[in-house]
Amino acid sequence: MAEQSFPVGLQGRRVFITGGLGFIGSNLAHRCLELGARVTIYDCLDPRSGGNLFNIDDIRQDVELVMGDIRDFDCLSRHVPGHDLVFHCAAYTSHPNSMREPLIDVDVNCKGTLMLLEALRRFNPGARLIYLGTSTQVGRMYYRPIDDLHVEFPVDIYSANKLAGEKYCLIYARAYDLPVTVIRLGNVFGPRSNIRSPDFGFINYFIGLGLQGKEIPVFGEGRQLRNITYVEDCVEGLVLAAERYDDPDPVNLGTGEEITIRDLAALIARHTGYEGAIRWDRTKPNGQPRRRLDTSRAEERFGFRARVPLEEGIARTVAWYREHAQAAARR
Ligand SMILES: NC(=O)c1ccc[n+]([C@@H]2O[C@H](COP(=O)([O-])OP(=O)(O)OC[C@H]3O[C@@H](n4cnc5c(N)ncnc54)[C@H](O)[C@@H]3O)[C@@H](O)[C@H]2O)c1
Repeated sequence: MAEQSFPVGLQGRRVFITGGLGFIGSNLAHRCLELGARVTIYDCLDPRSGGNLFNIDDIRQDVELVMGDIRDFDCLSRHVPGHDLVFHCAAYTSHPNSMREPLIDVDVNCKGTLMLLEALRRFNPGARLIYLGTSTQVGRMYYRPIDDLHVEFPVDIYSANKLAGEKYCLIYARAYDLPVTVIRLGNVFGPRSNIRSPDFGFINYFIGLGLQGKEIPVFGEGRQLRNITYVEDCVEGLVLAAERYDDPDPVNLGTGEEITIRDLAALIARHTGYEGAIRWDRTKPNGQPRRRLDTSRAEERFGFRARVPLEEGIARTVAWYREHAQAAARR
């Protein structure tokens, strides 16, 4: 690939999305197509993940789909050449699963990321890699809001391994001059997520419960404050970062908007029409009282600003699942 000068648009670009059948990867694939990119999705449809073929049902004819595992070096090496941009969304994405099956998490999130880096180094060193990290890599907070330079003490295996994956990317950027962009996401919600399991994002899970008329469980008093980002904003931020951010320094991506879990549960109940009580589960830990992300650098560095208000995002998500609930449940 020829060296890219910034900013670059996506029109005509060849984009490779690992984990493109999953929640964020499939939304990204839709947006990249809208922007005129040629999209390849690389995914093994891991049954323990949020991946779902229905997520690309409406664009199936417009993308190239490679059913491959991120840990399969030969397969990756055959498919990474010729792409300008690589969004690395494939991951073992569940915090609880990572504690139950830590070695699988290492395998996918650490070894898989190294496989991708090696394939790029050897067969497509000019492609820009966008690594999707998580704000939970920071873990224990020493100050708020959590900025992009906060020290990291992850508290679960998934977050520790995502942090290791991020460090591998930064090492390859420095050692081999690979163009790498590292983005750390806060909680994301919206269409095309796995809403049936508590093992993935809690916001989509709450929406799933509300739509099924099932009790929404809130830990403690539900006064914990969280930042929550609608997936359309998340995807827009990733695209802007890919187009404009030519620097490996990690950047937090999300919205500054905060809400308590109890208010969020009430909002979701209202939009899904759930009329039962919200269940306060006082046997479970409260979680950190407040996790606020400082996302100002995303605006400074590549002009990102979340645009979709929380309530509108919830309304749009509920509408999408009302229309697609049966199909989206198929795996
Ligand atoms: N959803 C969030 O709130 C959130 C927050 C922070 C960071 N992230 C990061 O964003 C990325 C995407 O997350 P998501 O929410 O879309 O997850 P997801 O579980 O919906 O999608 C992950 C995709 O990766 C695929 N995959 C898993 N193992 C694979 C393997 N071995 N080989 C190939 N493909 C494999 C799955 O089949 C699935 O399609 C991940 O890197 C995750 O760590 C997500």
